[in-house]
Amino acid sequence: MRLLVTGAARLFTDRYGRDPEGVWYAPGRVNLIGEHTDYNEGFALPFAISAGICVAAAARDDGVIALSSRQHGDATVIVPLDTLGPGRPDGWAAYPAGVAWALLSAGHRVGGASLAIDADLAAGAGLSSSAALECAAGLAFADLNQLALPRSELAALGRRAENDFVGAPTGLMDQLAVLLCQAGHALLLDCRAGTGTGVPLDPAAAGLALLIIDTRVQHELTDGGYGARRRACEDAARILGARSLRDITDVSVLDQLSDRVLRRRARHVVIENRRVLDTAELLRSGQLNRVGALLTASHASLRDDFAVSWPEADAAVEAAIAAGAHGARMTGGGFGGS
Ligand code: GLA
Repeated sequence: MRLLVTGAARLFTDRYGRDPEGVWYAPGRVNLIGEHTDYNEGFALPFAISAGICVAAAARDDGVIALSSRQHGDATVIVPLDTLGPGRPDGWAAYPAGVAWALLSAGHRVGGASLAIDADLAAGAGLSSSAALECAAGLAFADLNQLALPRSELAALGRRAENDFVGAPTGLMDQLAVLLCQAGHALLLDCRAGTGTGVPLDPAAAGLALLIIDTRVQHELTDGGYGARRRACEDAARILGARSLRDITDVSVLDQLSDRVLRRRARHVVIENRRVLDTAELLRSGQLNRVGALLTASHASLRDDFAVSWPEADAAVEAAIAAGAHGARMTGGGFGGS
């Protein structure tokens, strides 16, 4: 992380010819278990990883947001605050700019700022580089403008940027994970309450290791598959007369769904919620070595019922288990990533 701080600060000085006022950091995340449950008001269990994103920033007095990124070429993107809106700017710059827009839309006072971004977190690897970028930028904007925002509120603003500015209809898990996870712990999220509780996660102490495998298949949450899954879940809940699939705990209730696809999508969510709570219980009672079977079951469910895994992920899971892993699964939204 220290290298990243220096990298962002140096890029800042190169691009803007002065020192930044500070450098803000947000990590990536891996979701241990609880996939496609967040927008169903269910449970998830992510943890932060040591790769992340740094934003070096300083206020400016010309009402402009300037954005530079070491990973995204030479040009500095410059946008007047009063012209910010979905699509302006687009591409990578939409994530930090979208957070300034979300803050302004929520009535916060935000002035111009220069930002320089450096990352050691791969984009498109399903490790929440989008949320890390939104949240690091959000922390910078909040401090530069002396906004005393609780982290949970910043997370919600990051999600607003992602949903309404970037156009990816995601839940809140990633932003909460990125802003609230603590070292040595996973974060048990109750996505209805919007709260998170730390649960000890220390693989090394149990003589185990958690391996993150980037399949190098890029994933995109704006390209339709994610939104279609979300709509299927909402349709299933509506047909069953439930506020959300969170309220269904008995899988036999799903027999009322005549549409086979909806039934399978809903079954994944209902059973995945239970797997999250079971995993948290095992972690709390020091039985990390028994979590593997739940991870593998989660993968099978995401592959067969929810249909969001991809061939390279299935191959990685099979290879890991054949090589002696206790369990393995895809993490994140699916259709690519890790
Ligand atoms: C992406 C989204 C999250 C969540 C996961 C699937 O990471 O950003 O909100 O829905 O997919 O669990």
